[in-house]
Amino acid sequence: MSDEFQAATSEAVRVLRAGGLVAIPTETVYGLAADATNEDAVRKVFAVKGRPVDHPLIVHVADAARIDDWAMDVPAAARTLGATFWPGPLTLVLWRATHVHDVVTGGLDTVGLRVPRHPATLAVLRELGTGVAAPSANRFGRVSPTSAEHVREDLGADVDFVLDGGPSGVGLESTILDLTGEVPTVLRLGAITAEAISTALGAPVEAQAKGPSRAPGMLAAHYAPRARVTIASADAVETIATRAADAGRRAGILAMGASSGDPRVRVFDLGADEHDAARRLYAALRAADAEHVDELFVVLPERVGVGAAIADRLVRAAATFLGDGTTHT
Ligand code: TXA
Ligand code: MG
Repeated sequence: MSDEFQAATSEAVRVLRAGGLVAIPTETVYGLAADATNEDAVRKVFAVKGRPVDHPLIVHVADAARIDDWAMDVPAAARTLGATFWPGPLTLVLWRATHVHDVVTGGLDTVGLRVPRHPATLAVLRELGTGVAAPSANRFGRVSPTSAEHVREDLGADVDFVLDGGPSGVGLESTILDLTGEVPTVLRLGAITAEAISTALGAPVEAQAKGPSRAPGMLAAHYAPRARVTIASADAVETIATRAADAGRRAGILAMGASSGDPRVRVFDLGADEHDAARRLYAALRAADAEHVDELFVVLPERVGVGAAIADRLVRAAATFLGDGTTHT
């Protein structure tokens, strides 16, 4: 372990122990972490993000053996999935242990738990000796940060320490799986697919039925840039974007392999495969904002593998525009 790595992780631990907030790198997105046993520190997370207090936070722990510190009546499926996918982009919703603070769970009887896959954050969790409650480290209503720069742009001096672990390797928030019902149910799509979970369990997994999400806080606005987002087919997208530019709009195209022969149209290429696309998506949406794009045409990837999660986020982003000149909050 390099001295620099050691110094940074020790500083993160010191700040967390003092009740401060640390931005932590994870393979999905950066988190805004507080010691999950310190109610005042966790409250600060909500204040800094501007997040409603009934939106629960995920508790991040060092390894699967820590499940029992936070959850009770833990089903065998949780052990299997922990052994298979942790550290990794999977959050398990379990019955919470009685000592877990309401401020962490948003008053629910359940708790979301995950072991993130990033060496610096795992080192912090091991040295800290307890879990951290951490939402994505963006202000409420902005897309999740996938680099330390994104965190600094959003949170500035409101975060006490940013542990810079480089760009997030996955780039989309974790898959959330609810294990408190009869059938394991995916509440949020992510890089770990329902099929992969089902294979690991040797049992069926459900996607959450339509209706308000049981993961409070999964609002469309979380995935939207400031531009109006419209879904377009790969065949038509260049023509449509050019037409929007003709109408005086600042148009952009966001797609895997995006291109345009029209110099007025901004191009946000998500790369050649869905893993690239997941990694680049949120930086691309931020770039569209930075370039003041007001009309963004997106082509959905095929809904296979992590492509399903990307399509899910983009469909939410497209659903957000209110059509009256204002957008999401
Ligand atoms: O990949 C991730 O999950 C990232 C990194 C930092 O770990 N975190 C993240 O946190 O995306 P956040 O707070 O932005 O989204 C967490 C989601 C929310 O929609 C919340 O409602 C849901 O997880 N959640 C947390 N605990 C829950 C619970 N007990 N029951 C249902 N949903 C829960
Ligand atoms: Mg978030």
